[in-house]
Amino acid sequence: MTERRLGEAAEGDLMQRGFARRDIARIAAVFGAGAGLAALAGTPAWAQSAGRDPDRRTRLRLDANECWTGPLAPGAAAAAEIIARSNRYDPAGEREAFRAAVAAVEGVSTERVVPWPGSSDPLSRSIVSFCSPSRGLVTADPVFELAGDTAKWLGAPVKRVAMTASHAHDVRAMLAADPAAGVYYVVSPNNPTGAVTPVADIAWLAANKPADGVLVIDEAYIHFDGGPSAIRLATTRDDVVVLRTFSKLFGMAGMRLGYLVAAPTLFERMMRYDGGMQSWALPMPSLACATASLGAAGMIEARRAEMEATREETAAFLAKRGYRTIPSRANMLMIDWRRPAGPVGEGFRAAGIEIGRSWAGFDSWSRLTIGSTDEMASFRAVFDRVLTA
Ligand SMILES: Cc1ncc(COP(=O)(O)O)c(C=O)c1O
Repeated sequence: MTERRLGEAAEGDLMQRGFARRDIARIAAVFGAGAGLAALAGTPAWAQSAGRDPDRRTRLRLDANECWTGPLAPGAAAAAEIIARSNRYDPAGEREAFRAAVAAVEGVSTERVVPWPGSSDPLSRSIVSFCSPSRGLVTADPVFELAGDTAKWLGAPVKRVAMTASHAHDVRAMLAADPAAGVYYVVSPNNPTGAVTPVADIAWLAANKPADGVLVIDEAYIHFDGGPSAIRLATTRDDVVVLRTFSKLFGMAGMRLGYLVAAPTLFERMMRYDGGMQSWALPMPSLACATASLGAAGMIEARRAEMEATREETAAFLAKRGYRTIPSRANMLMIDWRRPAGPVGEGFRAAGIEIGRSWAGFDSWSRLTIGSTDEMASFRAVFDRVLTA
């Protein structure tokens, strides 16, 4: 039965890596149907706050690290234009045009660029593709949990490694934690801290990890940082995957588009579970929007600068009131309330604002997403009332 659903190559690979038939059947149940793994194996960003807030329309949402506004103008125009031609699966080679646009903007080769409906699915899929019961996952702590959740679901061992004093990933400790891992997962800028890990450290991990282990670098927030990217590692090496998404600075979380950069030998392993369905069957308005947004350098920089100014204003406001934040390079701030974060979040909710959640082991901290200038003024306006209640 699994043969029919996964194909011989995928099943043979899973068996070789030590999965029991029972596990293969479970994987087939998810991938064979072409369903999104991320939602079953973990809690992707879009599902994290949905259940908590019964009336999402009326609240100011500073919880899910979305952008405060929609797609860049050229992207919105391109998406609107292609709707009338979306009777075709790929009206004029939009998938190839997207790959070429990424290649041109990032200076990478087109053959290594693969679009995907967001980065949650390829992230989960990379864990299934490169981890196993005997080849685990190493992540930072705290970090976006989806990779760890997927490994746990899969039955692969997970090692979580504390950050350095500057909140970077401690790459040397990550390698020491499991010198034979299947995947080393680095998020830079990180979620939930917004802290950057120097590209030199990421390159060190690439050079020193086991040759058959894969380095997955998640750059979901890279445009909010504006600093150097580790993308070159995915074009010069065949054991590195870089994940990007349009869900953050590009304001396209609801349009579901992302991409990965990796050697074909790696992404072909990720695509075989569903015959490439996820990365081929893409909504044309999302693809057109992303392609037209990629090159809008001035608008990207203006949005980044606007967010940075608002974030620093918010951090200064919090510091003035004695609340510590972790220095962030992305659209979020981790705040230490010095008391359990749960009731603080409830206080903001009662005041009409949904702030972000806490992370396991960081119970006095919440993550706050940076909204528009006006939204953050509203946050400041209720702040003293909520914190003194
Ligand atoms: C670090 C990180 N990676 C990946 C994602 C997944 O986003 P999406 O599936 O919308 O591309 C998120 C979303 O919050 C994230 O924070």
